[in-house]
Amino acid sequence: MKVAVIGAAGGIGQALGLLLKLNLPAGSKLSLYDIAPVTPGVAADLSHIPTDVEVTGFGGEDCSPALEGADVVLISAGVARKPGMDRADLFNINAGIIKSLTAKVAEVCPKALLGIITNPVNTTVPIAAEVLKKAGVYDPKRLFGVTTLDVIRAETFIAEAKGKACSDIKVNVIGGHSGVTILPLLSQVEGVSFTDEEVTALTTRIQNAGTEVVEAKAGGGSATLSMGQAAARFGLSLIKGLQGEEVIECAYVQGAGDNAEFFAQPVKLGKNGVEAILDYGSISEFEQKALDDMLPTLKGDIEKGVEFGQAE
Ligand code: APR
Repeated sequence: MKVAVIGAAGGIGQALGLLLKLNLPAGSKLSLYDIAPVTPGVAADLSHIPTDVEVTGFGGEDCSPALEGADVVLISAGVARKPGMDRADLFNINAGIIKSLTAKVAEVCPKALLGIITNPVNTTVPIAAEVLKKAGVYDPKRLFGVTTLDVIRAETFIAEAKGKACSDIKVNVIGGHSGVTILPLLSQVEGVSFTDEEVTALTTRIQNAGTEVVEAKAGGGSATLSMGQAAARFGLSLIKGLQGEEVIECAYVQGAGDNAEFFAQPVKLGKNGVEAILDYGSISEFEQKALDDMLPTLKGDIEKGVEFGQAE
């Protein structure tokens, strides 16, 4: 298996690279690309860790050599959020970056599974879809917005609040990957119950957890280590799926369509990427209202991406 990380010299990219170097199956290849001149050094640094994963670093203007033969491509290239900015503020810069990088993926490794980390994910994923469509290679089963950070945050905060082991908590987070579009389905978490106040407080905390980190880093960036872990978990699940294991992860994909054109929900992963988009089950009244309330925002984010992706 070959995994390419694009944006590999950044905060997320470096954490992700490290976790993949440690956890990819023996014999895998890890290819790192970033426009930052330090990238070959990041690759050299990682290559000294004794695991059977071959690391190669690429710099320069063109990411094509890094994408050659990739089975999975994870893109975290872009600019990170600063205090006072929300994910939508990143739009103008990151949208252009995703457009040009996805065009390269379409050209060099059109069959790769593509996971988009770069925010705003609600919008960058529809942009990528339009670019792939234009190139005639779009397969909705192979394009993912990585929303795993919302899932791991929900797992952590619930375990913390209820005095449980993190590994015992499983939760689906549906919708999108920004603010009110993030909807953790707390009513479905097995083995714990919540008061109405707890549901409101936990939901709000999960939705605003990114801001918690941005403010705590005080101008030094946004979530990188937890996002690196989330992206590694998702990337490794994509690999397991490709190797024939059945894995379920929540991800932002096109297809279900009942709520919005793109929507995060549990997805069964397999040899072709998405094997099936799973029903997220019955939800509480609170969750239904939150879902109804978020849809105009989510649909607006998607529309913006489609327009940007279609523009010349
Ligand atoms: N091609 C490759 N790499 C790029 C490009 C590009 N066109 N443009 C920027 N980069 C690289 C930068 O050189 C930098 O190394 O992307 C990296 C971004 O790293 P950081 O600034 O540390 O940002 P990070 O915290 O990793 O977040 C990156 O992910 O979730 C999102 O909101 C976050 O959109 C942001 C992105």
